Amino acid sequence: MAKVSIRGLFKMYPNAKDVAPAVHDFNLEIDDSEFIVFVGPSGCGKTTTLRMIAGLESISKGEIYIDDQIVNNLPPKNRNIAMVFQNYALYPNLSLFENMAFSLRLKKMEKFEINESVKNKAKKLQIEHLLDRLPGQISGGQRQRVALGRAIVRDPKIFLMDEPLSNLDAKMRVRMRMELIKLQRELGVTTIYVTHDQIEAMTMGDRIVVMNGGVIQQVDTPENIYNYPANRFVAGFIGSPPMNFIKGKLVRQDGRLLFAHDRFALEVPADTAGRIDLKYKDVYGGIRPENMTIKPYDGGDVAGPSFRGTIEGAELVGADRYVYVRFGGDEVIVRVDARERHQNGMEVLVSLEMDRFLCFDLHSEHRIS
Ligand SMILES: Nc1ncnc2c1ncn2[C@@H]1O[C@H](COP(=O)(O)OP(=O)(O)OP(=O)(O)O)[C@@H](O)[C@H]1O
Ligand SMILES: [Mg+2]
Repeated sequence: MAKVSIRGLFKMYPNAKDVAPAVHDFNLEIDDSEFIVFVGPSGCGKTTTLRMIAGLESISKGEIYIDDQIVNNLPPKNRNIAMVFQNYALYPNLSLFENMAFSLRLKKMEKFEINESVKNKAKKLQIEHLLDRLPGQISGGQRQRVALGRAIVRDPKIFLMDEPLSNLDAKMRVRMRMELIKLQRELGVTTIYVTHDQIEAMTMGDRIVVMNGGVIQQVDTPENIYNYPANRFVAGFIGSPPMNFIKGKLVRQDGRLLFAHDRFALEVPADTAGRIDLKYKDVYGGIRPENMTIKPYDGGDVAGPSFRGTIEGAELVGADRYVYVRFGGDEVIVRVDARERHQNGMEVLVSLEMDRFLCFDLHSEHRIS
């Protein structure tokens, strides 16, 4: 088992010197046995970082340590790392048994030991009965298991996985997600898992590393990332449908703090208001779709933390309905129970749970509340 320490990691591809670095000032401490997920949009540097840890890509600046040993110049085969790729990279002409045994044969392990180890790991992955087949003769999910099997027979100190489930259909993906976590817990191997799927990140990671443009945006538990996003990027990237952002101004009035939009003002709860620096004026208000409710507007005064809007449309998504509400030039998505039906064009009152209302500085986009 191993801990990994990444300090000041920086990567500039030699053929891309005129553009931004692929990875910039990357610092991270990964605990022994931890399941950590790198998540972020396409091109944010996830694979590059993973390949530097594996030793498959050179490091431009910074250090990577595995258990206090600097590995910058250690060849991949000496790092005791196993990597699982998106396309599985199985040998098509070798049986599943031979695919799994491959690295053990290279290590010159005894025949009976190889046999024992492969059978044992295959049993864990429920592919014992398939070992004589070729990769072309099994399903995608089973191929995925073989790729995993090939990684775990080597008893590595670290697993690196780059979008290993993205070739599977949605149902299989959910199942494999659970099985992977179970397997990782059982083996206790430190795992770094790359995905661009925020749901995968939320459900699998002990901690999540959110990346954008080669830079870490936030490292924290799924709960904290969801409830206390460090900035507007993280707030918008994690969660589906995404958090709503409304441009407005912070105004202090009679000892109260108001979030003021052209059409309405919302009182920021006192304990939140007390933590916001006076220097912030222009902000984005952030509220998640599940932290609002709607009801038909009856023409009376608007009381409490709410504003008027018009229903533009709705999407039915299983047990939920996502309702699009327009107010002036802005729009929010509200998540309601699917049994709640509203007519398009109807005037509604949108009410906000203000204790879930976040403020982000308009310029730096950092969360300030
Ligand atoms: N061999 C290479 N030469 C030059 N630039 C590269 C090379 N590989 C990747 N890049 C660039 O480095 C940046 C990071 O790429 P990387 O593959 O790490 O992204 P990623 O987060 O894994 O994206 P995806 O989710 O699409 O797999 C991108 O801008 C990419 O174009
Ligand atoms: Mg990638």
